[in-house]
Order: sequence, then structure tokens, then C-alpha cells
Amino acid sequence: MKLLVTGGCGFIGTNFIRLMLGKHPDWSIVNLDKLTYAGNRLNLADLERDEPRYRFIQGDIGDRELIMDLLADDAVDAVVNFAAESHVDRSIDDPSPFLTTNVLGAQNLFECARQRRVGRFVHISTDEVYGTLGPDGRFTEATPLAPNSPYSASKAGADLMARAYFETYGFPVIVTRCSNNYGPYQFPEKLIPLMYLAATADRPLPVYGDGLNVRDWIYVDDHCLGVELALLKGREGQAYNFGGDAEETNLAVVKTLLAILDKPESLITFVGDRPGHDRRYAMDYSLAARDLGFAPSLDFATGLSRTIDWYTANAKWLEQVQSGEYQRFMESWYEARS
Ligand code: NAD
Ligand code: TYD
Repeated sequence: MKLLVTGGCGFIGTNFIRLMLGKHPDWSIVNLDKLTYAGNRLNLADLERDEPRYRFIQGDIGDRELIMDLLADDAVDAVVNFAAESHVDRSIDDPSPFLTTNVLGAQNLFECARQRRVGRFVHISTDEVYGTLGPDGRFTEATPLAPNSPYSASKAGADLMARAYFETYGFPVIVTRCSNNYGPYQFPEKLIPLMYLAATADRPLPVYGDGLNVRDWIYVDDHCLGVELALLKGREGQAYNFGGDAEETNLAVVKTLLAILDKPESLITFVGDRPGHDRRYAMDYSLAARDLGFAPSLDFATGLSRTIDWYTANAKWLEQVQSGEYQRFMESWYEARS
């Protein structure tokens, strides 16, 4: 199988490429990534010695000429689109790059893949397109899309376009909607690595609101295996939910992390809430279980310890990814919440 993976220098894309090249000796992957603040070519630098099985290309999913070239002459059997602006807080600060990449960029990929007659396209979406839940119930694929942040609205926009491409053109797209991922290579703007950084530096841990918002956590490899299943077995035009069966409040996550690191809970600091903060996410993934054989394998406690071990062993990586741009955003965002 020849794959074009986009956004492969980000958190989930990196894990996906490593896992798939390890599992499938006969697969080759071209990784197209713009290298935004969240993308790091060094994540996969060791694989660059393995050309032609792995090839990196810096570029934008919105660049029609480039994508048409990459997809020319049956160069690719399938596309897996991870590329996105992915941080809710940044989308609140400035929605426009989210529309450019997550909606227009995704549509450009769909259009180029359609024109080049690519046989399969997996589009990576998120549980956040469904909006928020009360204390009971779970999202199913039939739950109406009701996004509450500019990030989730942009992801929902691409999901609807994927649907339209399937209905209108018979475009062979499969959409996956997964809950909150954690694991190696996650950029330290997201909850777990951000709190790890703060705790290890004995700095305050900024918990939004009352800390009782609930997320369903999934270890990144379990999500990547779900994407592989969708690629190999998914029904065209179908969206599939993936979840981790690990609902936790943010406060519980942060307390567990502090306990593992042997740091005091007094580091927890409640700060001003994220505007439009979704209260709870929970996934019913029975369709993916039935159709694809999907099931998450790692429990949250084991996954969290494994993740913390990775960050501890990769302090240099954490240092490298904190660019000046990262520092600027973090300072202005958290200053406004204190
Ligand atoms: P990330 O921010 O870590 O990585 C995104 C990658 O996309 C980066 O390498 C970045 O350089 C690249 N990119 C951004 N704009 C691009 C463009 N215009 N052209 C090419 N490359 C571009 O994100 P992630 O956490 O790895 O998320 C990957 C995908 O999974 C996203 O689509 C996201 O919406 C989805 N998702 C994430 C989670 C999660 O918990 N992280 C959960 C469900 C779904
Ligand atoms: P995040 O990792 O940004 O993922 P998402 O918003 O996509 O779910 O946040 C996870 C949860 O943690 C969410 O409820 C917001 C909360 N949170 C904090 O309390 N403090 C923080 O500094 C961050 C980044 C997130």
C-alpha cells in the first residue's frame, strides 16, 4: 500500500506513521506536513534513512498544484488526512487559520484526490463535532453535529464536506471521530503534556473553571489502530466513532499525574474558564466495534504512566518544541485567565 499521510509531523500522525511502517513492511508513506508550530520534522528524522519507504515533503494541504503532483500517476493508493490546526484555545484566539486549513485545506485534498481517482480517503475528525453532553449518554454517529468552538466548527465543516463529496461524487471517503488522545509526541499545549511540564518545573497547574469537565481519554496507539481499521475495512461514506472507555474529570487527570510525579496537589490552580467550554464528551463506538473490530486496549492508568515515562525520557524533545511562538501564545493566553 502506498499512502499519502498529511500532518504526519504532529502528535497523532507521528505515532500513526511509526506504527504502520513497523507493522507493514510492504507499505510506503509520503508524509506531507506544513511544519506549523505544532509540527516537528525531527519526530520522524530516523525514518528518513528508510527512503523510499518513508519520504517527507514540506507543504500545505491547501496547495492544489503540489497535491495534484503528489497524487499523479497512481502514486498513491490512499490518503489519510491528519493535517489540521488542532488546539481549541488557539481557535478562540484566532479562528481564521482553522478555517483555512481544516475546511478549505481539507476540501482541496478531497478535490485533488477525487480528480486523481484515489481509491480511498480517511479523514480524521473528532468527537468535538458533536458538541457537549450532560451527565448521561454518549455520542453516536447519529448524534447531530453541534460544535461549540471555532476548532470544532471547522472540523464539522470538513465532515459535512466529506459527506457531500460522498453523496455527490461517490468519493470514497471514511471519516473517523475520536475522543481525546494522549501519549508520546503530544505538543505541550494540550492538557497532559502541559500539566507535566508545569508539575516537573514546580509551577502552578492551570485548571479551567471547576475542573469537572469530563473527557474520554484514549491512548494514541489505540486511535491509530482504529484509523488503520477504517482504512482497511471502513465503509465508504461512513463516519466511525472511536473512544477509550476512560471518562475522567480534568481534576482527576491532574491529580493522578501529580501523584505519579510525586508532586503536591497544592500546585493545582483554578483559572478563568475557557469560553464555550464543552462539559462532557463520551463516545459510543459500537459501530466501529461491530464493523471494524475496533476496541481500545490500554487502560488510562497504564497509558498515563507510559506517557509520563516517555516525556521523562525525552526532555530534550520537550525543550526543542517550545519555540518563541509557543512561548508568546502561552504567556498571553494564561495571563488573560489568571
Ligand atoms: P497536531 O496539532 O499535533 O498536528 C497537526 C499537524 O498538522 C502538524 O504537524 C502541523 O504542522 C500539520 N499541519 C497543520 N496545518 C497544515 C497544513 N495546512 N498543511 C499541512 N500540514 C499542516 O494535531 P494532532 O493532535 O496530531 O491531531 C491530528 C488530527 O487528529 C487533527 O485533524 C485533529 O483534529 C484530530 N484529532 C485530534 C485529537 C487529539 O486529542 N489530539 C482527537 C481527535 C481528533
Ligand atoms: P485540551 O487538551 O485542550 O483538549 P480538548 O479541548 O480538545 O478536549 O483540553 C482537555 C481538557 O483540559 C479540556 O476540558 C480543557 C482542560 N484544560 C485545562 O483545564 N487547562 C489547560 O491549561 C488546558 C490546555 C486544558
